[in-house]
Amino acid sequence: MKKRLNVGFIGTGFIGQFHIRSWISVRDADINGIFDKNEESAIEAASLVKSLKVGDPKIYKSVTEMVSDPAIDAVWILTPNFTRLEVMQEIVNTIDSGKGNLIGVACEKPLGRNVAEAKKMLELVQKVGILDGYLEDQLFSPTTIRGKELLWSRGAELAGRPYLARAAEEHSGPHMPWFWEGELQGGGVLNDMMCHSVEVARHLLTEPGKPRTSLTPVKVTAHTECLKWQREKYAGQLAELSGGKLNYKERPSEDYARSVIEYKDENGTKVIVETTTSWCYVGAGLRLSMEVLGPEYSLSINSLDTDMKLFLSRGIKGAEGEDLVEKQNAETGLMPIVANEENAYGYDVENRHMVESFLDGKRPKENFSDGVNVTELLMTAYKSAEEERTIEFPPPDLDKFIPKVAQGKWNPNNK
Ligand SMILES: NC(=O)c1ccc[n+]([C@@H]2O[C@H](COP(=O)([O-])OP(=O)(O)OC[C@H]3O[C@@H](n4cnc5c(N)ncnc54)[C@H](O)[C@@H]3O)[C@@H](O)[C@H]2O)c1
Repeated sequence: MKKRLNVGFIGTGFIGQFHIRSWISVRDADINGIFDKNEESAIEAASLVKSLKVGDPKIYKSVTEMVSDPAIDAVWILTPNFTRLEVMQEIVNTIDSGKGNLIGVACEKPLGRNVAEAKKMLELVQKVGILDGYLEDQLFSPTTIRGKELLWSRGAELAGRPYLARAAEEHSGPHMPWFWEGELQGGGVLNDMMCHSVEVARHLLTEPGKPRTSLTPVKVTAHTECLKWQREKYAGQLAELSGGKLNYKERPSEDYARSVIEYKDENGTKVIVETTTSWCYVGAGLRLSMEVLGPEYSLSINSLDTDMKLFLSRGIKGAEGEDLVEKQNAETGLMPIVANEENAYGYDVENRHMVESFLDGKRPKENFSDGVNVTELLMTAYKSAEEERTIEFPPPDLDKFIPKVAQGKWNPNNK
C-alpha cells in the first residue's frame, strides 16, 4: 500500500485554484503534476502550489504524458463540462496502452452533460478498473457533516426520520462564457448548480450508514425560466463578455430552476426534496442554503449568515474582486465574510476523503455512480420543465434525452 499520493491536476482554472488552496488541509498527498491547455494557467497554478508548499508540480504537455508518468498516482479532472469525455477517454487510452500507475481519478461536477455522457464516464473508469471519486463538495462541508450527524442522532433517532429537505444555490452568474452556452455546459443553472442541491438534499435525508440509493426516486416536477439574462441590457452584457457569441435573446439558458423530487425510503415512507437554483440572485455573493424538516425538529444552514462581517463606508472605493466572498457583488457596505471558503464549501474534507480512499484502495463514498444518479435526476427535471408536467421516475429513454437548452433550441419567449 502506498503511504503518500502523487496527484496530477487536469485543468487549473477557477475550481483548480480552489482545490489547490484547499490542499493545505489535505494529508498524505502532494500536487505533483499539472496539465492545462492554457500554459499560462498551468504556470500560475504551479507557482501557487509551490507557494503554499502543497507539492512541487511538473508541468506536462498532455493528459497522456501526465498519466504515462509512473510518478503520478491519481488525477483530478477539473476542466470544463464539454471536455469531460475526451479527457477521460485519453486517460483510459493511456492506461489501456499499458502506461502509468493510476490508482484513481476524481472528477468535478457534473459527471456528464447528460445521462449518456455520465454513464460513459462510469463505464470507462470501470473498464480500466481504477477507483473513482465524484467531486461534490457540499457533502463534505463542516455544516453539512455536523448538521446531518446531529439531526439524525438527536432528532430522527427519537422522533422519526426527516421528511423534507430544501436546498438552494444562488449567485449572480458564472465567471466564464462557456458556462452560459447551453451546448457547451449541458444546460443552464439547473445543470450547473442543481447538481449540488439535488445531491446534498438526498444525502441529508439518507439514514446514516445507509447508501444514498436507499432512497428511491418516484416523481420529479420542475420549472425553468430565464428571468434576468434575457432582458435587453443583460443579454447585451453577455454578448459583450463572449465577443458576440452568446445570444440570450434567441438562445438563452435558464437562469432560474426549481424542482420537487419525491422519494420513497426502504419502508415505503414518502420523503420530499425541494431545490431552487438561480444565476439571478444579486446579494453579497454566493448563497448556499439548506433546510431539513422532521416531525419534532428542523435544521437550517445559510452560508451568508457568517460569523464575520466587514463594514466599508461609501468613502472607500476599492477595486472589484472576490476577496470577501465567492461571486462577490459589492465592495462597500456591511459585507459577510466567509473566513475559509475552501473549508466552508467542503473542498478540503472532500479532497482528504478522496486521497484517503485512494491510498486505502477503497472506492470513495461519493463516486461516479452517484454522479450518474444525479444526472438522471437533473435530466428528468429538464424533461418535466419542458413538458410542464410531473414525470414518473425513471422516464423511458432517459439515456437518450438531451435538454432543448443543450441543443440551443430553448427559448421561453417562444412558448
Ligand atoms: N464544485 C463546485 O462548486 C464548482 C465550482 C466551479 C466549477 N466547477 C466545475 O469545475 C469544472 C471547471 O470549471 P472552472 O470554473 O474551473 O472553469 P474555468 O473555465 O475557470 O477553468 C477551466 C480550465 O481548464 C482548462 N482546459 C480547458 N480545456 C482543457 C482540456 N481539454 N485539457 C486541459 N485543460 C483544459 C482551461 O484552460 C482552464 O484553465 C467544471 O466542470 C465546473 O462545473 C465546480
